[in-house]
Amino acid sequence: MNLEDRLEEIQRGVIPEHVAIIPDGNGRWAHNRGLERKEGHKRGTERAEDLIEFISKELPIKYLTFYTFSTENWSRPDEEVEFLMSLLKDLLGERGMKLLKNNIRFRAIGKVDELPERTARVVKETINHTADNKGLELIMALNYGGRQEIISATRKLISLAEDGELSGEELSEELFQSHLFTSGIPDPDLLIRTSGERRVSNFMLWQLAYTEFWITNRLWPGFKPEHLLEALGDFQRRDRRFGGVDKGNLLSENGN
Ligand code: IPE
Ligand code: IPE
Ligand code: MG
Repeated sequence: MNLEDRLEEIQRGVIPEHVAIIPDGNGRWAHNRGLERKEGHKRGTERAEDLIEFISKELPIKYLTFYTFSTENWSRPDEEVEFLMSLLKDLLGERGMKLLKNNIRFRAIGKVDELPERTARVVKETINHTADNKGLELIMALNYGGRQEIISATRKLISLAEDGELSGEELSEELFQSHLFTSGIPDPDLLIRTSGERRVSNFMLWQLAYTEFWITNRLWPGFKPEHLLEALGDFQRRDRRFGGVDKGNLLSENGN
């Protein structure tokens, strides 16, 4: 089936509201071709741009999150970290107009203030420039760690409690959620991880409670819209029970 037919078929089914992606394998992609790791990051960035454009034009996905830089990624060699930061700055700075043109709203989760100053500035500018856009919400996890996010929410809640504005009984899942970086953003319905790794690597530890996982061995710089459609097709065949019992099972127990 060609891409257009496949797309039409997917468009007729249930589309996840929030898709999150761990775009892994840039380094291995480059290594396999005898290239430097940064070539993998460059190609990976191009793939991300293509996918953002494809989704914003063709699919009613409302939120798309990319795990772009984790709190653990600072442990990489300085040169690689610097390259990733400048790539991000260029992506948002020089090509940020594309986001505006496609009505995309940009948001960031993670400790943006602790990014290098110039990168942090471009991130904040892009958030402001696109704040009124009503199309796809593109969320980048930048200097993001799931455990750090939970600790930072807890700190805010403790300070409310210390000020006498919150008691233990008042603490609910909703209140906790509203203090996470993802406040106001629904949990991902689908998580895609490339490069075959079967782990969450400190990503959205709270939010992934009932997310469907889709893992592919494909390395991120080789991930194209057709592979997204493959993931969505698989998602559409899943039975999300959220701890309950699926309808088919209920019927057979009743003898219907
Ligand atoms: C993912 O690719 C990109 C980032 C973490 C920024 P990697 O750089 O982790 O590539 P591999 O996993 O080493 O192949
Ligand atoms: C996860 O990939 C983080 C990002 C894609 C930004 P990593 O390559 O950093 O994760 P590990 O080391 O394989 O767990
Ligand atoms: Mg990796």
